[in-house]
Amino acid sequence: MNQVIDNHGRPISYLRLAVTDRCNLRCFYCMPEEGIKYVPKPHLLTWEEMERIIRLLVSMGVDKVRLTGGEPFVRRGIMEFLEELNTIEGLRQINITTNGVLTAPLIPEFQRLGIKSVNLSLDTLDRQRFFDITRRDEFQKVWQTFEALQEHNIPTKLNTVVMSGKNTDDIIPMADLTRTHNVSVRFIEEMPFNGDGAHEYQEFWNYRKILEELKKTYPGIYKLPDPPASTSYNYQIPGHKGTVGIIAAFSRTFCGTCNRLRITPQGQFKTCLYDEGVFNIKDLLRQGLNDDTVKQRIFEVLQHRAKDGFEAEARRTVGEVSESMSTIGG
Ligand code: GTP
Ligand code: 5AD
Ligand code: SF4
Repeated sequence: MNQVIDNHGRPISYLRLAVTDRCNLRCFYCMPEEGIKYVPKPHLLTWEEMERIIRLLVSMGVDKVRLTGGEPFVRRGIMEFLEELNTIEGLRQINITTNGVLTAPLIPEFQRLGIKSVNLSLDTLDRQRFFDITRRDEFQKVWQTFEALQEHNIPTKLNTVVMSGKNTDDIIPMADLTRTHNVSVRFIEEMPFNGDGAHEYQEFWNYRKILEELKKTYPGIYKLPDPPASTSYNYQIPGHKGTVGIIAAFSRTFCGTCNRLRITPQGQFKTCLYDEGVFNIKDLLRQGLNDDTVKQRIFEVLQHRAKDGFEAEARRTVGEVSESMSTIGG
């Protein structure tokens, strides 16, 4: 296996694959109430195509795959897909980002399927606020997923998007979960990917403001070393079992150490969160190209990768950011 390196010297080892754009929640920072226009089924990558792509990328040095969505567990066949992924030699980590609505009963299978960790989206511990944010009354099911993950000792990160006027009262209760639970609670700055282009902030909760809020209650909170290419700045509250992280998704870029590729449900191959896809890999596969030719194409685009999000955005032919996070996969 040769580790592929991009034109800026960054090794590419991490794929974020969005297996569907469909979702059973309607988080207001991600989708409008009526949902988004879903990609018609024939335009979606099939499980077989996704597996082939992952095998190709693993042979180029990718060793971590994160399955995202939409909500990955709304697509039928995902458990069988996970079985297949588990057989790929060289794939060191299979991770999943889920909203947890359908996940609780599946957790006992996770260890066997080689799922190394789960990132669970949860913006509040309050059932009414959960409904206000997601427009669905599913808090209990998500909480059951969290409990099942704990029970089965699956390393878990909770993703909490911090929204002015919505859930800032949850920052301390969420951080307090780390007292009794071995979990990483990560507060995320809201990004403008809500599917209808509009984003207005009364007051933007950036990384600094979130940290100040934590320090008011936990003055002893201290910095931990961050793993390479980590999206979060990590902290611990003295005496707590778990850790707290802050993802400056909007105010800072991760470009310098960016090791990730993204593939959307319809096969757009993205070398940056902010590009619109540099080619469609599904089309290549359906043209009948062989593995070496597809790999060559991937290799070529990685030699023309944007240095950072600003460059990627400037290259876009469409102007405004009106995508939904559900179609990008985060
Ligand atoms: P691990 O580091 O493997 O735990 O995953 P992650 O933090 O990359 O993934 P996750 O799906 O949990 O995403 C957490 C948040 O980070 C989401 O809001 C993502 O949209 C955001 N995020 C992930 N990658 C990037 C990136 O390259 N740039 C920016 N700005 N945000 C990102
Ligand atoms: N800003 C920040 N994070 C977001 N997510 C979804 N939409 C947004 C947004 N507009 C997060 C979800 C999920 C992760 C993949 O992305 O909370 O945990
Ligand atoms: Fe669904 Fe995740 Fe978007 Fe919420 S943020 S609507 S859970 S895809």
